[in-house]
Amino acid sequence: MAGALGSADGDRSPGDALGRPLRDLRVSVTDRCNFRCVYCMPKEVFGRDFQFLQREELLTFEEITRLARVFVACGVRKIRVTGGEPLVRRNIERLIEQLAGIEGLRDLTMTTNGALLAPKARTLREVGLRRVTVSLDSLEDDVFKAMNDVDFPVARVLEGIEAAARAALTPVKVNMVVKRGVNDHSVLDMADHFRGTGHVLRFIEYMDVGMTNGWRLEEVVPAAEIVRSIDAVWPLELVEPNYRGEVAGRYRYRDGAGEIGAIASVTQPFCRDCTRARLSADGQLYTCLFASRGHDLRSLLRGGASDEEIAERLITIWTRRTDRHSELRTAETRPLPKVEMSRIGG
Ligand code: GTP
Ligand code: 5AD
Ligand code: SF4
Ligand code: SF4
Repeated sequence: MAGALGSADGDRSPGDALGRPLRDLRVSVTDRCNFRCVYCMPKEVFGRDFQFLQREELLTFEEITRLARVFVACGVRKIRVTGGEPLVRRNIERLIEQLAGIEGLRDLTMTTNGALLAPKARTLREVGLRRVTVSLDSLEDDVFKAMNDVDFPVARVLEGIEAAARAALTPVKVNMVVKRGVNDHSVLDMADHFRGTGHVLRFIEYMDVGMTNGWRLEEVVPAAEIVRSIDAVWPLELVEPNYRGEVAGRYRYRDGAGEIGAIASVTQPFCRDCTRARLSADGQLYTCLFASRGHDLRSLLRGGASDEEIAERLITIWTRRTDRHSELRTAETRPLPKVEMSRIGG
């Protein structure tokens, strides 16, 4: 294929086998995390003996940036830096600075647990990060501590959120994974707390990602149920999506106190518009959150491939893509092993 690498502004996005363009790249910079959230990295599995990636297996910042540039040339417009926990990777601000310099990129954001955010927010903004999404599952210390499983207090995550807002990493989005019987009673508290702050609270259905969290359908609280319970106290109205394929359904408080989001990945899957690719910290490209294997871009990089060759490989992978796991979930009878979310980010 001649000239797979287009100009940064040209739309080189090929469209996959189901017609979905490549728009969004999520880059996991580490598979490590300072939390052990029960729905993501349960302690029994991610314990002392767990084999995390070794330093030499990780892509360097230069390698990540080079790949990101090729992705942007192939249609990507938004990059989300994730983990594990991205802020545990040393000198992460240097990577942000390099990514921010990529011509043609329109949005650069990060998903973090907020634990290390307060001291870093301002620098991250200065080097070019546009906004952040912070995970927080409850305002009650005992509930939150039981969910992060490392005894981390709510107050320090709230400090991180406020520091991000002060540093203009806005709008700050707050992601709450809702698990029945664990933190579903915190929904109204969370809504009350974030109403009127300008932060966008988003409720996420607990998903069957990975192989380790012991997911059960009974533990999923449907997004519609969450929205109904909030609407009963503070009336809501539906808002148009910000862009095609946005995963969160948007609702606005009728009294003007801002908006919330509901991510119904289990009860109302959004695969039809899924434009997301995921790059693991060791350079594997995953075309679905539920994929059982990735495509090895690191060998290509380290084997001396040119940008043009990498772009061609990317386009080949993307044009063959047929993933729509969440839509097929109920039909599956023989599940294959799935990658862990801590390897490819949220
Ligand atoms: P914005 O860029 O702010 O619109 O954020 P986003 O819509 O990309 O959402 P974010 O990255 O914060 O994702 C929120 C949550 O939605 C994730 O943590 C996942 O739980 C879920 N999610 C995001 N992308 C996908 C996806 O492609 N498939 C599924 N099944 N769930 C997803
Ligand atoms: N279900 C839904 N979301 C999950 N996340 C991690 N594990 C799960 C899961 N099992 C998401 C959360 C968190 C982000 C880092 O990953 O949104 O905020
Ligand atoms: Fe860490 Fe985020 Fe997974 Fe929690 S959800 S264990 S904070 S990567
Ligand atoms: Fe995209 Fe896979 Fe999620 Fe469907 S399940 S929205 S294809 S990442």
